[in-house]
Amino acid sequence: TFFDRFSDVHLIGAHRGFRACRPENTISAFTASLGRCHFIEIDVQISRDGIPVVFHDSTLKRTSNAALIADRFGIKSMRLSTWDLSRLKELDIGSWFLAADPFGTLAAGTTSVADLEPQMPQRILTLAELLEWAMRHMLPVNIEIKDQRHTRFDQHAASLVLDVIHRAGAASMVLISSFNHDYLLQCKAMAPQISIGVLQNEQHPPELVQYLLALGAAAYHPADAITTRELIRTLRAAGFGINVYTVNDKKRQRDLFNFGATAVFTDFPELPASARRRPIQ
Ligand code: G3P
Ligand code: MG
Repeated sequence: TFFDRFSDVHLIGAHRGFRACRPENTISAFTASLGRCHFIEIDVQISRDGIPVVFHDSTLKRTSNAALIADRFGIKSMRLSTWDLSRLKELDIGSWFLAADPFGTLAAGTTSVADLEPQMPQRILTLAELLEWAMRHMLPVNIEIKDQRHTRFDQHAASLVLDVIHRAGAASMVLISSFNHDYLLQCKAMAPQISIGVLQNEQHPPELVQYLLALGAAAYHPADAITTRELIRTLRAAGFGINVYTVNDKKRQRDLFNFGATAVFTDFPELPASARRRPIQ
């Protein structure tokens, strides 16, 4: 698969799409990342009616107009897992970006209101829709399954996601990652050929190499703050990919690649000058 061929190619992963210049996890953000990355990273959660959808936060507040829709229908909960797909599809998950300018790229003129406004509203994507789009563009996808504990689909999250991947014929184009390593074990048990990446934000598991071997992982995905040259060297020597998030500083990206990192996730995806570039779409 694409994600088993971790090598000395330095991969750029567009974190939630081109998140600095477009609303995260939308077609707008994914389209803007085309030609600027080797793969995209997306976050996946399960709707109330059991459909995997592409969205980061467990609540709808920050990146949608859910408050408005909830008011109209007398909905009390802002948790994504309590909304059916049909209702989620009514949300505008793009326009908040114009008001919030979360990375200051509108203020800086890196992206323009005039370019963005016609792309609104953006609608939440099902994982099936996203994979269909990615396959059309031959763009590999890192699917991060968000922790679904405290939802009714915790035990089924992995199988629901795998089911969509198989229906899309996308197994060789995806890498599944999660902070919830139970999901990764389940994925490997159900689909041994699927590539998995082990996410970690604070402390490395003890006996890390053994841990990754036991999980059947293709790669380790540590936060930048816990990533060292030594860690990278050890994991590369043991044959694992090491994909670091979230690295927006260009010098740090270079250093990590020099240490042997196989990929970085960035909110400002950009391929090296030698590779073809496209203007932001
Ligand atoms: O998968 C890497 C990174 O996306 C993990 O953190 O919160 O941005 O999903 P988060
Ligand atoms: Mg993520």
